[in-house]
Amino acid sequence: MDPQTNVAKSLHIEHLNVIALMKRLGNAVSSPAPDIDPNTLTRLLTDVNSAISGEVIPHFDFEEDTLFPLLHDEGAGDLADLLAEEHVVIRELCEAVKATAKVFLANQVSSDAWAALKAPATELSQRLSAHAEMEEDGLIPLLDSLIDDDQDTEMMKMRAA
Ligand SMILES: [Fe+2]
Ligand SMILES: [Fe+2]
Repeated sequence: MDPQTNVAKSLHIEHLNVIALMKRLGNAVSSPAPDIDPNTLTRLLTDVNSAISGEVIPHFDFEEDTLFPLLHDEGAGDLADLLAEEHVVIRELCEAVKATAKVFLANQVSSDAWAALKAPATELSQRLSAHAEMEEDGLIPLLDSLIDDDQDTEMMKMRAA
């Protein structure tokens, strides 16, 4: 079922965006050498870096600060703990991708820089997509069933803050 509350809708859109971006990243780094157009690659890595800082991390912060405590209160603490554990691993991968992408962008021709980027980028692509898909299956419908209109409005204010 489609997300019903505004907060579920906003998280859903971000999940779809990040799944699409992680697919682009995974495809790009699956080649043995950076054999895609350098401008395309630069745009992709710039998009990934800005999505991490501007979308992924604030999205994780919101889930951890606001949603996971709610899940604990409502008897779904196991799901919250599992998702929070995945956040820890994905946050580390985000840092590794940002750092290695920066080195690669500063030195386009380096095969060492490409090799250093490839491992964390491949793992981030897989783990973040799987995480977003798991939340689409479990967290989004649960959230819709747990919150009322007032909580929805309150949460959207927190998201905008
Ligand atoms: Fe999450
Ligand atoms: Fe999420």
